[in-house]
This record gives sequence, structure tokens and C-alpha cells, in this order.
Amino acid sequence: ARIVVLVSGSGSNLQALLDAGADPGYGARVVAVGADRDGIAGLDRAAAAGVSTFVERVKDYPTRSDWDAALTARVTEHTPDLVVSAGFLKLVGPHFLAAFGDRYLNTHNTLLPAFPGIHGPRDALAYGVKVTGATLFFVDAGTDTGPIVAQVTVPVWDDDDEQTLTERIKEAERRQLVEQVGRLVREGWTITGRKVTVP
Ligand code: GRF
Repeated sequence: ARIVVLVSGSGSNLQALLDAGADPGYGARVVAVGADRDGIAGLDRAAAAGVSTFVERVKDYPTRSDWDAALTARVTEHTPDLVVSAGFLKLVGPHFLAAFGDRYLNTHNTLLPAFPGIHGPRDALAYGVKVTGATLFFVDAGTDTGPIVAQVTVPVWDDDDEQTLTERIKEAERRQLVEQVGRLVREGWTITGRKVTVP
């Protein structure tokens, strides 16, 4: 199976998928990596793995909708079976969702529906929860609201700060991402309302 990964930052989740895909038995490989900005480690990781990259910046287009259409076209060129947002900090629009809405995965660093948005671990700490985790889901038009594929729990320790908690979540998150993407591409999936079924 062909995977396109979208990134905006360090790309450690991307790296986990690149590493997994190096084994032919995994059943999927990253064929391209897209970003919404230049100069990020995620793009360097892709280049180091010999994977082609592209950048589509919102500010290079007259409207958000034009950017959305351009991003959709770039991803379409690579004929992906699955698109994975791995720390991609942009909400895609209607063009993208029309093309990939049933095969666009995102990983979020809390147990949704708690603490959506870009400061998940910080918000979880501030709330004082004792358990948090990571959620893999199919993206819909909302922010972190789509049908859930899998979740993994992570304990919050009394002496955690944002950084220690974020790192503990990321370890579990990467493992979950690799396991579940492998399972999805090998088994297939259907989405019925909010329910994701893997046969
Ligand atoms: C992940 O923890 C993801 O949940 C959050 O940003 C992080 C991306 O990290 N939205 P990386 O770029 O994969 O290292």
C-alpha cells in the first residue's frame, strides 16, 4: 500500500512509519511526504530516506480554498491508499476531504474527545487528569472530531511537566501509529457513521 504523510514539524511519527515500511512484510511504504512549510526536520527525514517531498504554503495562494485544491492535487499525484497527518498543523478543506476523507488519518496526543487542538498535553496537565494518551482517527471537517480507529492510554505522573508528558505520549503514539496503519493496510476498513470496522 502507498502512504503519503503530511508533516509540519519534527517528524518523529513519520520516522516510525519510514522505519516500519523498510520491511517489505509491513505491507505499506511512505511514497511521499508533504509539508505546509520549509525547513522542518520532517522534510529532512524524508529526504534522508530517499522519499520525495513537496511543500504547499497557504500564503502562496490567494485563498485558503486554492491552497486546499493545490494540496489535494499534490497528494493525488502520488496515488495514496492512505494519507497520514503526523503533526500536520493545518486543517484541510472540502477539496481534500472529498478526495481523501475516508482514508485520511490523524494522530492526536490526547484521549479524544478530551483536549482537542494543538496544546493537548498542556491542557491535560492543567486539568489534572491522571490518565491521558493518544488517539488515531479518520479526519472529518471538525478539529479532532473524526471517527476513532484506536486509542492508547498513558499515565500522568505527579512530577510531569509538559515536556516529560509530551515525550511519554509520543512513544506510545508512534507504536500505535505503526501497528494500526499496518493493520489497516493489511485488513482494509469501513467507516459507518462514527464506527470504524476492520474486518
Ligand atoms: C504528535 O504528538 C501529534 O500528536 C501532535 O504533534 C506531534 C507530532 O510530532 N499533533 P512529530 O512531528 O511526529 O515528531
